[in-house]
Amino acid sequence: MEIVFATNNQHKLTEVRAILGKEYTVLSLHDIHCTVEIDETSETFEGNAWLKADYIHKNFGLPCFSDDSGLEVEMLNNAPGVYSARYAGEQGSHTKNMDKLLTALQFHSNRKARFRTVVCYLNKASEINYFNGVIHGVITREKKGSGGFGYDPVFLPDGYNITFAEMTPEAKNKISHRAMAVNELSRFLRL
Ligand code: IMP
Repeated sequence: MEIVFATNNQHKLTEVRAILGKEYTVLSLHDIHCTVEIDETSETFEGNAWLKADYIHKNFGLPCFSDDSGLEVEMLNNAPGVYSARYAGEQGSHTKNMDKLLTALQFHSNRKARFRTVVCYLNKASEINYFNGVIHGVITREKKGSGGFGYDPVFLPDGYNITFAEMTPEAKNKISHRAMAVNELSRFLRL
């Protein structure tokens, strides 16, 4: 079965193809010649994931799923949330985002945080389903590790003594919020 994953992120494609297995041909936006930049204008993960999946479904008529993820920090009322990529501004970087976060939390002992992913799937009949993945942890006081991306160097998952950035990609992909949500999708597709 052919299914579009509304992304061109090679890292995500590799991870998702491994989870969904050989029964599914996972096509990227590039594979279906979609060059439109779909704006993430919603204030929720669900809304942003739906915007992308719905655009592809409407314009290409193919079953499609899309994901939206971010970091929610308890002490910051779940910020940066959907703004995780742009926390330090549109021209920001992963380093600037982490520095802003460490500064915001510098005088706080509550460092609880979670990564959240929502996957939105639209099938051929336009039925919409959502799948969630969450991993809880704490924000460290300094960056550790050089792997991964985004906030990985400052995220210590509960039950581990190394950050996401200190884990191998395989180890992170086993427990990550994104893997969890895509595993849920995989189970649903096989029902
Ligand atoms: P996206 O929706 O998966 O593109 O994620 C949006 C933003 O959330 C990223 O640019 C990162 O800042 C942050 N983020 C999402 N997932 C992760 C992760 O696994 N590790 C670190 N940061 C993440």
